[in-house]
Amino acid sequence: MTKEKQGLRSAEWFAGNGKGAFIHRSWMKNQGLAPHFFDGRPVIGICNTWSELTPCNGQLRDLAEQTRRGIIEAGGLPVEFPVMSLGESNMRPTAMMFRNLASMEVEETIRANPIDGVVLLAGCDKTTPALVMGAASCNVPTILVSAGPMLSGSFKGRVIGSGTDVWRLSEEVRAGLITEEEFLAAESAMSRSPGTCNTMGTASTMACLSEALGITLPGNAAIPSVDARRRVLAFMSGRRIVDMVHGGVVPSQILVRKAFENAIRINAAIGGSTNAVLHLQAIAGRVGVSLNLDDWDRIGRRVPTIVDLMPSGRYLMEDFYNAGGLPAVIRRLLDAGQFEPDALTVNGRTIGENNSGAQVENEEVIRPLDRPVTAHGGIAVLRGNLCPNGAVLKPSAASEHLLRHSGRAVVFEDIDDYHARIDSPDLDVDESCVLVLKNCGPRGYPGMPEVGNMGLPRSLLERGVTDMVRISDARMSGTAYGTVILHVTPEAAIGGPLALVRNGDRIELDVTANRLHLDVSEEELSRRRSEWSAPPVPSGGYERLFIDHVLQADQGCDFAFLSGSRGAAIARDYV
Ligand code: FES
Ligand code: MG
Repeated sequence: MTKEKQGLRSAEWFAGNGKGAFIHRSWMKNQGLAPHFFDGRPVIGICNTWSELTPCNGQLRDLAEQTRRGIIEAGGLPVEFPVMSLGESNMRPTAMMFRNLASMEVEETIRANPIDGVVLLAGCDKTTPALVMGAASCNVPTILVSAGPMLSGSFKGRVIGSGTDVWRLSEEVRAGLITEEEFLAAESAMSRSPGTCNTMGTASTMACLSEALGITLPGNAAIPSVDARRRVLAFMSGRRIVDMVHGGVVPSQILVRKAFENAIRINAAIGGSTNAVLHLQAIAGRVGVSLNLDDWDRIGRRVPTIVDLMPSGRYLMEDFYNAGGLPAVIRRLLDAGQFEPDALTVNGRTIGENNSGAQVENEEVIRPLDRPVTAHGGIAVLRGNLCPNGAVLKPSAASEHLLRHSGRAVVFEDIDDYHARIDSPDLDVDESCVLVLKNCGPRGYPGMPEVGNMGLPRSLLERGVTDMVRISDARMSGTAYGTVILHVTPEAAIGGPLALVRNGDRIELDVTANRLHLDVSEEELSRRRSEWSAPPVPSGGYERLFIDHVLQADQGCDFAFLSGSRGAAIARDYV
């Protein structure tokens, strides 16, 4: 078959009888591939983030096998390849520092190789956006299969959820409510199977948002990792990607403005993670869709949170799947006219066609819109002289009585200062104070770790205080909760106003008015600014590259030079 007739990227490697084709085919044949695998069929990459250092993605070896079967059945040639895997629970200083690096690896691996379409296998928090960002920048046919959530945790008759109960249990130990032995025993009970966090943390959020964007088959988000139906979904995704290559269905047709708007609405409806803001902004940047922080407030805040999952609610992902999963949520929003039905999805149908027949099986887990968990879900975007380019807060995870608050700042210059002093009896703090943490932004930490939900002072925990207003340029785990103001932009390490806050300053928060104000005069702030000096930066290595190129939180923390889609043009051969 001629290259022209096939029109596939892989033909540039494998078609014809020249020296180059001989080399490309011959080496591939050492893997036991029969000659007919090079007859011009689509070559499908299976981009796998399986790793023993990423326990959340443990099921992906099996799912890769199921995907492979589907590809072969549909007449494609599967080629599995590993990419850098980002395990949230292990990586230091934070997996977020490596999201862009992994996305570069995905993008360059696809473009450099004979790949016509790709199935992305991801799960743990950063793996999903990293893979979608990389594939979007290549714009070859792409379908995502998620690892799926862990089974529900259970300890001493109480349901416990990934992450959420770690924060809860660790504060209970510090407050003397449970013993250290009980705390340690809960460890094994929380993580009973392979899979991603079983709460509506960042991994579940990104799986839901990916389904809402239309880059997964319907139903992908919630099927438990070890459920046989997830294996079927992987198999069907393998079959479908071959047709997508034949039909020329590419991410730029799917990742359009209305799909992002749908994802923002879904984030509100599910009580999704604040991290979704960063990842969706970064993905949008890769496909040239202009999405800004205010879109989150404008589009998402009117949508109630109807999924009653931890950390905002009571249940876990397994319950969510049994209640109908994301299709049932989409149906609820479609029926209420709060969802754009016409967006195309990877199965060739619109998101409306895919989900208009979905059913809610449990109205406690997926509530009716008029009986929500929180009437105004989503992400509140704050503005003011403390965060000129924005900050975010998740109202459904916050305390109602603190959403309008004014308090005295108790300032920590960085995370080490916080650890050194938070439990000190000398710390002058009460529950009306506002805890301020600096230098934990994308450049400051570096990598913007999930430390924004900093624990409360022991003296206050012992008195039964459960929440305080906290402000930082850090992120917060999607499994965490509290009245926590995050992603303050510009960050302290580049001299944002956050850097200028001092102990005793008054800070005013009004979430309804989207306002965050530092009650210090402009003259005083400019005096402090003249005394401020930037923290030192590392002299080299990836950390230096990261610091030199990372965008601020309001732009999704991508590298500036990675914005946009570069396509999958084939470079000259080395032969
Ligand atoms: Fe990997 Fe939560 S730590 S999904
Ligand atoms: Mg997380």
